[in-house]
Amino acid sequence: MPLQPLKPKLIIANWKMYLGVKESIILARQTSKIKTTNEIVVCPSFVVLPLAKKELGKKVKLGAQNVAWREGGALTGEVSASMLSELGCKYVIVGHSERRSLLNESEVTIREKLKLAVAKKIIPIFCVGETAEARKAGETVKVIKGQLAVLNNLSFDKLVIAYEPVWAIGTGRVPTTEEISDVHGFIRAEAGKSVKNLQIVYGGSVDENNIKKILAVTGVDGVLVGGASTKLNSWKKIIN
Ligand code: 13P
Repeated sequence: MPLQPLKPKLIIANWKMYLGVKESIILARQTSKIKTTNEIVVCPSFVVLPLAKKELGKKVKLGAQNVAWREGGALTGEVSASMLSELGCKYVIVGHSERRSLLNESEVTIREKLKLAVAKKIIPIFCVGETAEARKAGETVKVIKGQLAVLNNLSFDKLVIAYEPVWAIGTGRVPTTEEISDVHGFIRAEAGKSVKNLQIVYGGSVDENNIKKILAVTGVDGVLVGGASTKLNSWKKIIN
């Protein structure tokens, strides 16, 4: 098994639309009290951002789950990069597979979102990952190479790429450590040249039972956690 020594990791919570407003405030407060040497980012719903920021304190960083592909103006229901910046967001998730598949998010809008986030000094957490069909067809690398092409000719001081196989999200299924290591290695070779500070995190059914094994995989700088990040007991174990 490809292993690496343990060092501080980037642990990102994507609360998706799992929690209500009150529940989010409580979990943000509890998160601020967990002792850890890892770097923690919490991405709550837009409506909770200012309230969560207050609870998370200084150490835990705030992230958003999405950003508008235009900077301002007549765009009903959207939230701009400058608004996120004003609210203290340090990170934003861009191109999550749920948005690509359920909301038809295109590579054109993903690229615009990346540009606007960078312009406002918000670090993108850019998501890539293959479907079960693509993996079965042996096309994992081809699909990810295609998704990474949106980064061409963009420049980033700092970028997080999340490898989230679509078939692993919310299913309890996780790739083998070799598979994760191979894909992370490919992403680093492909995107690492143009990004000074690149962190590659794994996402998809991360929980308190598999966290240690995943964080020990060569090339894994951290994790992006959905469901398990919304349950305090699991989340505490993942953070530590
Ligand atoms: P789960 O951890 O619930 O599988 O979700 C992963 C994910 O989509 C994080 O962005």
